[in-house]
Amino acid sequence: MRTQVAIVGAGPAGLMLSHLLHLQGVESVVIDTRSRQEIEQTVRAGVLEQGTVDLLVDTGLGDRLKAEGAEHHGIGLRFAGRSRRIDLHGLTGRAVTVYAQHEVLKDLIGARLAVGGSLLFEVSDVTVEDVTGDRPRVRFSRDGTEQVLHGDVVVGCDGSQTSCRRLIPEGTVRTDFFRQYPFAWFGILAEAPPSSKELIYAHHERGFALLSTRSPQVQRMYFQVDPADSVDHWSDDRIWHELTARVAGDDVQVTEGPIFQRSILQFRSFVCEPMQYGRLFLAGDAAHTVPPTGAKGMNLAIADVHLLSRALASFFRTRSTELLEAYTGTALRRVWRAQHFSYWMTSMLHRFSGATDFDLRRQLAELEAVTGSESGSRMLAENYVGLPLP
Ligand code: DHB
Repeated sequence: MRTQVAIVGAGPAGLMLSHLLHLQGVESVVIDTRSRQEIEQTVRAGVLEQGTVDLLVDTGLGDRLKAEGAEHHGIGLRFAGRSRRIDLHGLTGRAVTVYAQHEVLKDLIGARLAVGGSLLFEVSDVTVEDVTGDRPRVRFSRDGTEQVLHGDVVVGCDGSQTSCRRLIPEGTVRTDFFRQYPFAWFGILAEAPPSSKELIYAHHERGFALLSTRSPQVQRMYFQVDPADSVDHWSDDRIWHELTARVAGDDVQVTEGPIFQRSILQFRSFVCEPMQYGRLFLAGDAAHTVPPTGAKGMNLAIADVHLLSRALASFFRTRSTELLEAYTGTALRRVWRAQHFSYWMTSMLHRFSGATDFDLRRQLAELEAVTGSESGSRMLAENYVGLPLP
């Protein structure tokens, strides 16, 4: 098999890259070890920045997003027993949309297949070869036979467990920047009406909690737990008790209902530099991971491939490598901004083990400074709705 761009991974980065390349007249093949069903059903985050929404709508993926997504013009920050609203729209003229990541993936898979796009699910034994030559290859097995995909370029969109990243020699070429956090999130989906019209991020001495939503009937909620905790330690009663203790007050009630999904998400910050090695490029979680606070992960993946698709289209049109060579530098500026924002939101809102009363009071003062002044709120709002795409 031969194509222009061989894409490893059918998550947000890989599928969106294939879609954007198609619109610019560039061929690609996407492979993934997972089944289509697994990709379309795995529960992830659900907050889309304004730039992500605009790009999806402008490239023909807006129908279900507009019908089923909910635009949010503000968020609540809750601390010291009261809520303060950040008026995202008033401060920036922009908004976010709550629409689950796996719904975006369904839309992307549908759009690729509708135009005969080549998506190969459930492949195994993937190896990428010869990325420093002009004819890199991806070998894999499909239905028991070995196949070789020849491309001009290979893009690793294979998530944080990537095998592509390891092809960039560590030390001599590649540097990994890494930070582990001493906490995790317990996430649930529950059949219940929303507790609040807008998302609520809560600081509490028992630990962070977040009320988010998926639809008028389904709510997404998270609360901070120890990374070694297990879903088996939490009965439904204990979950509702903990969420209520951390978020509820005179002005907010946590609405309960049957919990039908529960999982624990680990936290880390990670960046790999550079995001290119020869004819291999990395995009999305294969190159960087953010902690979930602020929901930047998928948005960063989309921003990467927006940039990369234009650089690749220019390369295939003119054979000029100028934009491809600029990819790492341009993408990493946004990645580091998002790293800072996610780290900052995380540290402001979570309880660190061993935190003293001094630490708690310092966090409350920071929340007061951010919510109590227009410049503080604007800094949060601009980053939350996302920097414009170039
Ligand atoms: C969601 C996830 C986030 O990390 C966040 O900051 C807000 C919302 C969500 O899954 O709904």
